[in-house]
Amino acid sequence: MPTSLPQPVFDESIVTAVPTHFETEHPSDTAQYDAIKNIQKKNVAAFKRARGKPDALYPLESALGAHGADAVKRIKDAGQIVFHAAGDTGASNARLYKNELQVADMLAADYHTSDQTSRPSFFFQLGDIVYNFGEAKYYYDQFYEPHRNYPAPIFAIPGNHDSFVLPGTPKTETPLAVFARNFCAKKFTITPEAGSLHRTAMTQPGVYFTLDAPFVRIIGLFSNALEDPGLISSETMDGKTNWPGVPDVQLKFLAAQLDRVRREKYSGAVLLAVHHPPFSYFADPQSHKSGGVHGCSPVMLRQIDLICQAAGVYPHAFLSGHAHNYQRYTRQVTFGGKLLDVPFVVCGGGGHHINTLVQPRKGQPLIEPGFNTSVKHMEFKPALPVTDLTLEKYDDHNYGYLRVSVDKKNLRIAFHRAEGGSLQQSRFDLVTIDLATHTKVAN
Ligand SMILES: [Fe+2]
Repeated sequence: MPTSLPQPVFDESIVTAVPTHFETEHPSDTAQYDAIKNIQKKNVAAFKRARGKPDALYPLESALGAHGADAVKRIKDAGQIVFHAAGDTGASNARLYKNELQVADMLAADYHTSDQTSRPSFFFQLGDIVYNFGEAKYYYDQFYEPHRNYPAPIFAIPGNHDSFVLPGTPKTETPLAVFARNFCAKKFTITPEAGSLHRTAMTQPGVYFTLDAPFVRIIGLFSNALEDPGLISSETMDGKTNWPGVPDVQLKFLAAQLDRVRREKYSGAVLLAVHHPPFSYFADPQSHKSGGVHGCSPVMLRQIDLICQAAGVYPHAFLSGHAHNYQRYTRQVTFGGKLLDVPFVVCGGGGHHINTLVQPRKGQPLIEPGFNTSVKHMEFKPALPVTDLTLEKYDDHNYGYLRVSVDKKNLRIAFHRAEGGSLQQSRFDLVTIDLATHTKVAN
């Protein structure tokens, strides 16, 4: 039975050894994949409307219980907020476990070794927490135990692996039902999935929500259960519905959230987090197919762009996972008469796997793009005037995570490789955005 507590708990009071094996045996999922074959490309997931009105905020303070007010004051006094983000952290087999643990341990070490003013306040997981099908029985090994020493809240948006329903799954055990039990609880509760550990379930209002923290709002959207593309609605257009069964509630939610930003003249950073990346590298402009394993989601991006245009507010940056590597694009877009630099960051090397950006054809050499390469061919019928899309930097060989910091003036997004050492040593990339002008500034 779930146990409710008066206050949230994040980590264990005693630091324990790094796990060496899964507690629950995880046999190969090949048979399941063989059985589902193509339905993975067409079966979408219905989901519940989030609690509260579409323009409601989920304050960081509320996730921290009685310590919330003090914690928020400390962040404001420090003059900046720092947080972690990464996607695709789960390990679907024992061989991959060490990669997941390496990233999780670095997040905890970063927390413990940072001083008060730069200590991360939370980890925002960008989807794909439990592989391969979001099973409750694997939450302990793939989520709770790796993060047993992380002393802060972990928020999450579900990925495709946290939402695709294997045929025959009971309603109470569908991946989204399990996700909701562990991330969208109404009370601070220890769930059965936590086993002997004490991290309480997160209290997000839904699978989509806006985290309101000092200096930053993160609008998290659920991009559903397909391998590709990501989608945030039924995509009903011109009398045609692409994805019957997917509610359109996130469209109204996004519009309401952006309208609130405009109405309040909110001056902090506005980030949009969505598991499937709007852009993931592909080289061939003819095929519009991914050069790596996962592709772009142009229809989803078009819907987001149009809602932003109607609201008159564009996010300062997009954060995604799904593609198992690190990619950072700058999209130069004209919005409200100004030219904006918008980072689109993919951080899907959180532990599950690493894929190279380009999958070489048999017998042919691997030809990868250089840094700072124009990839405007990856724009497909953009809803906004796009001057350029540049692949600024990528790392498709190392696991890692994002360390994001925001103060009154700037948003900084850094990618750190999970290789140990100091933060300076592990940092591979950094982009800095001026919040007032939405333009890149020197780091
Ligand atoms: Fe994914």
